Amino acid sequence: MLVHKVIEERLQTAVTAVLPDAATAAVLVRPCPDPKFGDYQTNALMGLAKERKMNPRQLASAVSEQLSVADICEPVELAGAGFLNFRLKTSAIEQALVAAARGEHLFFEKADKPRTVVIDFSSPNVAKPMHVGHIRSTILGDSLARTLLLLGHQVITDNHIGDWGTQFGKLLVGWKRHLDQKALETDPIGEMERLYKMVNAAGEADPKVLEEARQELVKLQHGDAENLALWRQMIALSQVQFDSVYTRLGVRFNYTLGESFYNPRLEGLVQELLKKGLARESEGAIAVFFEDIPQLSKQPALIQKSDGAFNYTTTDLATLQHRLETWHPQEIIYVTGAPQQLHFQQLFAIFRRWYPNSGIKLAHVWFGSILGEDGKPFRTRTGETIKLADLLDEAEARAFAVVSEISRDLPEAQRRDIARVVGLGAIKYADLLPNRQSDYVFSWDKMLALNGNSAPYLQYAYARTRSVFRKAAESGVVPSGTSLEKLQLEAPEELALAKLLLNFGFALERSAEEYRPNFICNYLYELAGSFARFWENCPVLKSESAQRESRLTLCDLTGKVLQQGLAVLGIETLEQM
Ligand code: ARG
Repeated sequence: MLVHKVIEERLQTAVTAVLPDAATAAVLVRPCPDPKFGDYQTNALMGLAKERKMNPRQLASAVSEQLSVADICEPVELAGAGFLNFRLKTSAIEQALVAAARGEHLFFEKADKPRTVVIDFSSPNVAKPMHVGHIRSTILGDSLARTLLLLGHQVITDNHIGDWGTQFGKLLVGWKRHLDQKALETDPIGEMERLYKMVNAAGEADPKVLEEARQELVKLQHGDAENLALWRQMIALSQVQFDSVYTRLGVRFNYTLGESFYNPRLEGLVQELLKKGLARESEGAIAVFFEDIPQLSKQPALIQKSDGAFNYTTTDLATLQHRLETWHPQEIIYVTGAPQQLHFQQLFAIFRRWYPNSGIKLAHVWFGSILGEDGKPFRTRTGETIKLADLLDEAEARAFAVVSEISRDLPEAQRRDIARVVGLGAIKYADLLPNRQSDYVFSWDKMLALNGNSAPYLQYAYARTRSVFRKAAESGVVPSGTSLEKLQLEAPEELALAKLLLNFGFALERSAEEYRPNFICNYLYELAGSFARFWENCPVLKSESAQRESRLTLCDLTGKVLQQGLAVLGIETLEQM
């Protein structure tokens, strides 16, 4: 059991001794914000005291009298308005690391109540290239999925592809009239984009073109065989491109159920909402109103247009129903850009009326945009939207230049491989590090910097934890395995590093709870910094016997945490850089 969990358990027992009827599940400890005060702290007693109109310091003092943690902590300190601060005994830290060295844990525990969580992310649109706007959804969603999975939850990833809608009318006209077969073979998405833009422009000049597009759309909606076959072909061609990006990014989906999958449910769904009085007719359309929700009261959600067509919200309601019936999740997470906030507020509000007892947690995990260095939306020099695949190519090319600079001696094939891992890692990390709700400026220099809060810096720190073992082997040092029995931590840098290792689980849990992988990024950055201080002040291979063993173990465990932490960000590591 992790040492902070032991403290929590004993703390809860002590609380029960003082307040037999208190609910103790929320009596938890957190790492102290400032190590000056200790290693862990609880503020839960203040809440309990407040509920009972007790003096919080008196309660904290009574609890601390009942508390027996002397085997793992220095004397507990009562601080401020009623905090309890805990400082670990060195022996307890050493024991925790010994258990980790034996492979019993890696400083985190699986959730005691695993949940089934559906994550809806990436979700690009057919016949359009994936652009940088999709990168954030893909990278964030993938990291959340990996983190929840590591914490023992059942995760279902579902790519809600945009494969239905009015754009197919124009695409069909373009395809039938102007298709360039050669171009389709070499760059299918580029060709479909060209066709769409062409018919779109023609439609602006000539209403006849629009009418033609509308008719093609109606034929598609009514199941015309030719149009259905073309539509399927457009989806298949798009999927090939999406898959190549996902393969490069190492992202996998359990399901790819596009919007069209839900078409058969839409008619009945609208009828049901009408019958239940949740929706009503308004100016020929059918809408849901939110008079009782102040921030939505002026914004009804359309679920059927006056021409009979269904809306984005209708499809999303059907999607929710399908997920509920099929997977029975406790939680559904949607990862999209900030502009969709209103959509999801409406969707969740309708769903809660429709299924008042579902108990399901719905979360819209939204994010800001990526800006160019000029502070405007990130675009190519000629002002076009940047394509994801081009961006990844450039990341690898730039990383190759950096790698060739610092590791001249490595063979080219190896430098290319390093560049791939570093370049993709840099892009992902730059996307995960900022608070997701703010816009961030895309900067190659920053994301590839070897000495900043960047992926290459962390990957390099990892490689260093590995290189010490190669050097040990070269100089004939064979780890004797004594640190599987006992470890000795003395130098302040050793202790600081060891304590930080103990907190890995907090970073994972917080990222999963708040849907913010930046907690993991910042934790890893702090860990790498602590490792650098240790490395500078505590010779590893030049020290003797038990001390060398302990230090090697610190290197090994730091490497494992860095590797696992980067892995849940979707970032690979290398043994050598
Ligand atoms: N295809 C949409 C877009 O590109 C995102 C879909 C998000 N998921 C959902 N269930 N609405 O903006």
